Amino acid sequence: MAKKVYVGMSADMIHPGHLNIIKEACKLGDVIIGLLTDKAIASYKRLPALKYEQRKIIIENIKGVTEVVPQEELDYSPNLRKLKPDFVVHGDDWQKGVQQQTRQKVIETLTEWGGQLYEVPYTKGISSTQLNQTLKEIGTTPEIRMEKLKRLIDAKPIVKVLEAHNGLTGLIIENVTAECKGRNKEFDAIWLSSLTDSTAKGKPDIEAVDVTSRLHSLNDILEVTTKPIIYDGDTGGIPEHFVFTVKTLERLGVSAIIIEDKTGLKKNSLFGTDVQQTQASIEDFCYKISAGKKAQVTKSFMIIARIESFILKQGLEDAITRAKAYIEAGADGIMIHSKEKNGEEILQFCKQYKEFEKKAPLVVAPSSYNHLYEEQLIEAGVNIVIYANHLLRSAYPAMLEVAKSILIHERSLEADEKCMSIKEILNLIPGTK
Ligand code: SPV
Ligand code: MG
Repeated sequence: MAKKVYVGMSADMIHPGHLNIIKEACKLGDVIIGLLTDKAIASYKRLPALKYEQRKIIIENIKGVTEVVPQEELDYSPNLRKLKPDFVVHGDDWQKGVQQQTRQKVIETLTEWGGQLYEVPYTKGISSTQLNQTLKEIGTTPEIRMEKLKRLIDAKPIVKVLEAHNGLTGLIIENVTAECKGRNKEFDAIWLSSLTDSTAKGKPDIEAVDVTSRLHSLNDILEVTTKPIIYDGDTGGIPEHFVFTVKTLERLGVSAIIIEDKTGLKKNSLFGTDVQQTQASIEDFCYKISAGKKAQVTKSFMIIARIESFILKQGLEDAITRAKAYIEAGADGIMIHSKEKNGEEILQFCKQYKEFEKKAPLVVAPSSYNHLYEEQLIEAGVNIVIYANHLLRSAYPAMLEVAKSILIHERSLEADEKCMSIKEILNLIPGTK
């Protein structure tokens, strides 16, 4: 009987390195590909460009592949114990770097039935990082970008979103990474905040910056990024206008709009009851949600309902009643907001929300209760965390300091150490040269 050979792969962008591994594996027996699911891949790197089903079609049509099975985790051992292969074949590049532990566990698991690890020398001259970079330069399509938010919600324990208010801040979110505990971390999506978009335009956050102007900022961000976008739709306006906003955002490839259940002159939520604000009736807000849902053309676009009951001191019961009604009206997600520093009311809400029979992804923006770690939010059942205003809040004090320094010293020499170098700014945006 032919030997069983197991090859674990993400197979996102197939290159000669993958084909070489399959060719070598074929020499040992029948090749079963353990195709990593989106979830397994997202646990250690960026979500693949192609969905699992698309990757599966490609890989099962490669010469020499006998079978494709899903590998649900980065850890091979559950699949290996099930299939008990004679060999596992992998590129020798995993002897170093983030996959070392995975490799070790494969070796240990295989000893349980006398299986062997066979390592193929890494194919030089091909780098998925470089391929990824090229893909980014090519850009994305509205459809691919829009779909990505749902894929991220399914694949990640929590989707991390940071605020952008122009092309430059969009680029930061697109490209910034931080290495931590052997992993490269990055943001998953972009929040087009009404607060920072308005503030960057020198206007108050009261829907005075109209949708047409907001779309200019959005367009600047779309132009230079590929990550999914969540648009802060304020109140959404009157239903008759909201349906147009939904269609426009969909056409542009925005993944979601969040609308808050307020009516009349909207003020920023972080004022709470210090200013006059009115919550919409459940009936009116549900009507707006369902009008939006009826207007949308694609399956992927999400309308997320934001509950302002805590902001307006209406309490937990009101928030829970509204969440149920909004989901019933067709909301694709619920955002629960609070300006309290301790985060208690949010956690209480999450606890009750967990028990809902009909649930939608849960979103929070912990600007006030910022001591909570993402791990605690995951534990509470949160799906999306929005860091709603931090790039603008950090940029403004830095700019002010430099402006003051120039005034005080009547030259810019002293301010220079607080600035990036001329060389850096000239090289910041590709194509400036
Ligand atoms: C925004 O970023 O504009 C928001 C969140 O809506 S908050 O400012 O907290 O209301
Ligand atoms: Mg806002």
